[in-house]
Amino acid sequence: MCRMIAPHATSAPASVRAVTKAVVPAAGLGTRFLPATKATPKEMLPVVDKPAIQYVVEEAAAAGLDDVLMVTGRHKRAIEDHFDNAFELEQALAAKGDTVRLDSVRDPARLANIHHIRQGEPLGLGHAVLCARRHVGDQPFAVLLGDDLIDPRETLLSRMLDVRDQYAGSVVALMEVDPEQIHLYGCAAVEATGEDDVVRVTGLVEKPSRRDAPSTYAVIGRYVLDPAVFDTLERTPPGRGGEIQLTDALQELAADGTVHGVVFDGLRYDTGDKADYLRTVVRLACARDDLGPEFTSWLKEFVTGLEDGTVDGRHRQAA
Ligand code: UTP
Repeated sequence: MCRMIAPHATSAPASVRAVTKAVVPAAGLGTRFLPATKATPKEMLPVVDKPAIQYVVEEAAAAGLDDVLMVTGRHKRAIEDHFDNAFELEQALAAKGDTVRLDSVRDPARLANIHHIRQGEPLGLGHAVLCARRHVGDQPFAVLLGDDLIDPRETLLSRMLDVRDQYAGSVVALMEVDPEQIHLYGCAAVEATGEDDVVRVTGLVEKPSRRDAPSTYAVIGRYVLDPAVFDTLERTPPGRGGEIQLTDALQELAADGTVHGVVFDGLRYDTGDKADYLRTVVRLACARDDLGPEFTSWLKEFVTGLEDGTVDGRHRQAA
């Protein structure tokens, strides 16, 4: 069962694209990040000074998607609050004349028209997407996983929207991964098109063993989906892990030749994985104008100390 929650009022940029809506599934259990995710959604873990999911919504807005539906689950009140106004905090900052922090508090609610729906039970990513059916209607739409960050300097989503305009149907984002890692992802069988970064997807399989994987192309957390996916999802039975898998529904669409892939070789982070989360924070902190210079020089010293043995990485450092 999916339950609608009233939208927050916001301003939104104008869009000229056929696709205007984004769906952000954020109702998973986040078991890989326990115990931090016991009472906090993994999408709210801070990446430097913003929750991961804010980067995702910023990415949607930057690609011109001004309507964002969050699919949330238990303990997801924090997500709803983050993209809402915070009157007491705003009043306190306004009274102090702290306009920089005031803007940072107001920004999330201004990014797009943000709506929420509850996925009553985490029955799988395919089910989470199906919860968006009534809101999305009969239009193509984007799906951005709430814990999957594409570096803000990349333009993957815009490229995927262009590919949807060109080829119609659905578009997935693909990344080449080490064959040892393919069992962690959905994997695509592909055929070349005339374009270097675009392939036709002929088949999809969820988390295959290395031996059964048709390629080393992993499906990452960005999709532009044709509304035909909803009918397919309605009849998709639970698959791997007992969950309704988006990959299984896309496999059916791929068999009709209506799925393309954009091959991405830029920076992407899975913030639901502890090691990748740490890499994300370090990389994005180093890229910041305000924090980068000081943090980078500390990091260099720290790494040099680890290498020459003057720093023990297991213990707390004074500097
Ligand atoms: P994951 O595959 O990362 O699963 O979901 P998970 O349950 O959230 O996390 P782990 O593996 O237990 O640590 C990918 C995306 O799909 C959403 C998640 O919130 C995440 O953004 N999702 C997953 C849902 O919204 N609903 C679900 O039922 C499952």
